[in-house]
Amino acid sequence: MAEAIDFTAQPRRGRFEAWLLDATAKGSNAQHGRRKQEVIGAMEGTLVEIGPGAGANMPYYRDGVHVIGIEPNPAMHERLRSHAEANGVDLEIRMLRGEHLDVDDASVDGVVGTLVLCGVTDQRQVLREIRRVLRPGGTYFFIEHVGARPGSTMRRIQKVLNRPHRWLLNGCEVHRDTAAVIESAGFAAVELEHTVMKPGLYLPDFIIGTATR
Ligand SMILES: C[S@@+](CC[C@H](N)C(=O)[O-])C[C@H]1O[C@@H](n2cnc3c(N)ncnc32)[C@H](O)[C@@H]1O
Repeated sequence: MAEAIDFTAQPRRGRFEAWLLDATAKGSNAQHGRRKQEVIGAMEGTLVEIGPGAGANMPYYRDGVHVIGIEPNPAMHERLRSHAEANGVDLEIRMLRGEHLDVDDASVDGVVGTLVLCGVTDQRQVLREIRRVLRPGGTYFFIEHVGARPGSTMRRIQKVLNRPHRWLLNGCEVHRDTAAVIESAGFAAVELEHTVMKPGLYLPDFIIGTATR
């Protein structure tokens, strides 16, 4: 399990990360926007987004949904609120962590988590919480950057860069094997696609998919 980050201890780093997420959202949405539109855009009712950051997913929520944003880093909140408002999203921000959701069992219709399992302290506990709060048949939509193939040159590069990357970006790790953790989390069905971006600097590998409770 990774070491827990105190998000209030490094406000300058927090503001930098919020700015960076905002600045890169356009590129990230150009890459994954079609899938986001397809899956997030079809979700209805009460939804939870784990780690919404600066609000990259706000343009994809349809009218009438209520989104509970679980965002422990206060440096994200202003940008997040402003993107929700600009897109007419009924967003409620809770300063909690995905490891312990203040949400009733089987009470939400969908969960969204993009680029977030790379930085949480305990992936398995977050996935347990996602499964607990989803109603039977509810969908968890994920996009995650993951470690390159074990033994590859890229994986060796990632090992070297992990420490500075983690320091700069509040706990984000570059080489987690998240696919296996999602696949073994006890969902009724998992559909997962692995893509490799070219050029992808030192984070070329992504997984994108849905898990159904
Ligand atoms: C790389 S950003 C991704 C933001 C957004 N989902 C996106 O796709 O642009 C990761 C976000 O997860 C948040 N985060 C980190 N640890 C978390 C945890 N344990 N539970 C929930 N969110 C967390 C961070 O504060 C940050 O906003």
